[in-house]
Amino acid sequence: MAEVADAFVFFGASGDLAYKQIFPSLQLLVANGDLNIPIVGVAYSGEKWTVDDLRARARASIEEHGGVDEKAFAKLSDLLRYVDGEYQDQTTFDELRKVLGNAETLVHYLAIPPSLFGVVAEGLAKSHCVKGSRIVVEKPFGRDLASANDLNKLLHRYFDEENIYRIDHYLGKDPVENIMYTRFANPIFEPIWNRNHVASIQITMAETFGVADRASFYDSVGTIRDVFQNHLLAVTSNICMDPPSGSDANSVRDSRAMLLKAVRPMSPHDLIRGQYEGYLQEEGVHAGSCTETFFAARIFIDNWRWEGVPIYIRSGKHLPVTCTEVNIRFKRPPLEIFNETVPVTSSHMRMRISPDVSIGLGVRVKVPGDRMIGEDIELLVSEPAGKQMPPYERLLGDALRGNDELFSREDLVTAQWNVVDPILDDVVPVYLYEQGTWGPDESMGLIGNDGPWINPKKAKKS
Ligand code: BG6
Repeated sequence: MAEVADAFVFFGASGDLAYKQIFPSLQLLVANGDLNIPIVGVAYSGEKWTVDDLRARARASIEEHGGVDEKAFAKLSDLLRYVDGEYQDQTTFDELRKVLGNAETLVHYLAIPPSLFGVVAEGLAKSHCVKGSRIVVEKPFGRDLASANDLNKLLHRYFDEENIYRIDHYLGKDPVENIMYTRFANPIFEPIWNRNHVASIQITMAETFGVADRASFYDSVGTIRDVFQNHLLAVTSNICMDPPSGSDANSVRDSRAMLLKAVRPMSPHDLIRGQYEGYLQEEGVHAGSCTETFFAARIFIDNWRWEGVPIYIRSGKHLPVTCTEVNIRFKRPPLEIFNETVPVTSSHMRMRISPDVSIGLGVRVKVPGDRMIGEDIELLVSEPAGKQMPPYERLLGDALRGNDELFSREDLVTAQWNVVDPILDDVVPVYLYEQGTWGPDESMGLIGNDGPWINPKKAKKS
């Protein structure tokens, strides 16, 4: 059993990720009684911040993202410590060791660019902050297969694999976990969850906004690296994996890995890339950039369960809605017996992951009257947005307790890069699309007779 952490250290404390995700999650963990250990922020502020500056930053962050709970915030402020210094300077880590006192089971969260992972890991090692400790690293984990391998080697110099926690916040989303739960808690699904009954699968992750203030980061990454290699392949694994052999973390990760290893490395023929009009004018984007802000892809899984079932995945910025949704489309009746053609879209299971959460089962029923004519309906169960535990609260809590089930193991990350490695960068042209549309028309050609694409609807106001 992994030891529960006795201190939480986060690098990049003055940065964007800490501001948007970490402080609000820390307040939630404190409020729920799940965090009562020293929390040490480390950053190079350039202005010699003190712990009071960090507290002020935390308050501003939480005011903007979720709201301050005064009682929990007072407790959080009390637990906060701060170390200001450059990561290249060993005295920063010596100071950290001093602030940590006798704490031994440390969780180091690296909310910093991957180019700094090596120097921070080495600094930690030299200051005796590694033994018995875990390191949590953010995506993107590398830029391609080769750099991900290098990064793994680098981290393994200082940390054993079991102590490396690679974050993919989609795995921390309740509705993503629920896909796996629903499948394996209800045996009725298993007999139809395969090539005999499923015609195709679609996953759409759409966002109405553009690259905003992240343009320069985004331009070096693009949608395939930003969300396909990680989030959307993680969702695919929960939809398609075999039942784990047990409920322990490694059994679940084994099943996920086995599935991802069976995904065929992609070919450029299975990819359409798009860029929204106006992207080149965003501040921070390179002149003439061919970075995609949209992709549509077709993948195949080479195993008995899924042989021949195409999986269509698309994502983009400046699309008509913000929503992530999965659609499992079941096969049509083998023979029409009611003098009508049952639409290909009739029989389906729709799992909406965000912003609101729902599961819809599409079936065809008879319209009342004396004729055998049908209509498509959906049996729907839904939950309003915001009822779920935020993914960062879940993942940080798990990292503190030493539960690594929802973190990507080395073989999982490698398998994910294997899938997209052949289609990175400019292997196919990038087509322009109008903002507020469903991407370039070429994506319709990709789905062809397996279409149409199912466009998720706007969330209803809760
Ligand atoms: C991040 C991507 O990992 O996920 C962003 O870098 C994307 O580009 C975000 O907007 C989406 O996450 P969520 O949880 O809002 O769907």
